[in-house]
Amino acid sequence: MNTHSNELNRVLGGGMVPGSLVLIGGEPGIGKSTLMLQVALSMQSLKILYISGEESAQQLKMRSERIKMNSEHCFILTETRTQNIFQQIEEIKPDVVVVDSIQTLHTDYIESSAGSISQIRECAAELQKFSKVTQTPVFLIGHITKDGNLAGPKILEHMVDTVLQFEGDRNYGYRILRSIKNRFGSTSELGIFEMQSTGLREVSNPSEILISQRDEDVSGVAIASTMEGLRPMLIEIQALVSTAAYGTPQRSSTGFDLRRLNMLLAVLEKRCGFRLGAKDVFLNIAGGIKVDDPAIDLAVISAILSSSEDLSIEQKICFAAEVGLSGEIRPVNRIEQRIQEAEKLGFEQIFVSKYNLKGIDLKNPKINITPVRKIEDVFGLLFG
Ligand code: TYD
Ligand code: MG
Repeated sequence: MNTHSNELNRVLGGGMVPGSLVLIGGEPGIGKSTLMLQVALSMQSLKILYISGEESAQQLKMRSERIKMNSEHCFILTETRTQNIFQQIEEIKPDVVVVDSIQTLHTDYIESSAGSISQIRECAAELQKFSKVTQTPVFLIGHITKDGNLAGPKILEHMVDTVLQFEGDRNYGYRILRSIKNRFGSTSELGIFEMQSTGLREVSNPSEILISQRDEDVSGVAIASTMEGLRPMLIEIQALVSTAAYGTPQRSSTGFDLRRLNMLLAVLEKRCGFRLGAKDVFLNIAGGIKVDDPAIDLAVISAILSSSEDLSIEQKICFAAEVGLSGEIRPVNRIEQRIQEAEKLGFEQIFVSKYNLKGIDLKNPKINITPVRKIEDVFGLLFG
């Protein structure tokens, strides 16, 4: 079933599944209500029941005016008692139900107050039963904080079919919808949105926001062609290498595995003779995203060398290769897609492993594909 949101469809594994229970978790204020209200309003061909225990009908109306949508097919119910909710469901017979949020519901069968673990569990169980019996997809919104202060809905993770997490950095406008459990699809897909004053915009070309716009060349920046699930995207790696002010040099990494960073630094030091042992190294993936793709190794190394040498890398250059323990540049999967994405975004040169070129089939690429074998080759070509 189509949610009319390409990003949500992708993360769900192709769309909504009849009879599925989906938990959408995220920190308060991240945009869960906005996302689900927007999705509910855009599913014109389906009858949606949006149950809000958090906001008044008036507040919801203001919100839907803000996102400039209204619709006859979306019923808003401000109710928190499950017995009343099921009564309304009987009458309305919705195709899809959204509950905002599971923490606000309470059922007569449990004594404790709304939001308590036993209420959350019982209310979710009632909705699960409804979902399975009637084959209606049900979305449960749950407030979850990283520090575990509001861990309530976490207990539902094993109960529901799909767990989506809506996250983002408050410093940036965009939001990432990530699947962390999915009985019906892969968990490696991401949906990307941007919070605007008129609601969430789907970002179908993530590279546009993940690469910072700059007018002049700066050192310490390298672009990697990476894959998130099946989708290629270009991301920006930023490194800062400086002489350690006090004793032990610091190594810190945001968005990239710190152990892998230490491994790459050891390779640069031991295999290639770059003296980084006494330097502080800070690494950051722009945009606050986390990447777990060995194909960004070469960009990480290039950003570090660029900062260390204080020489910038031309903005039209990008990288897609893994780096091995002996400093060799290794091939990566889906190289054609990575190259094509880079070309599509106007990059003029991409560094890849020499061993990645066998059997690749690209018709007259406009981008210059530069095969490299060792880190020294890359260094020579970039800064030599
Ligand atoms: P909200 O959906 O209420 O978050 P949650 O349900 O996860 O708690 O989002 C709230 C934030 O989003 C709030 O800070 C206002 C902002 N926002 C916009 O920037 N643009 C909009 O169009 C809307 C509706 C909200
Ligand atoms: Mg909300």
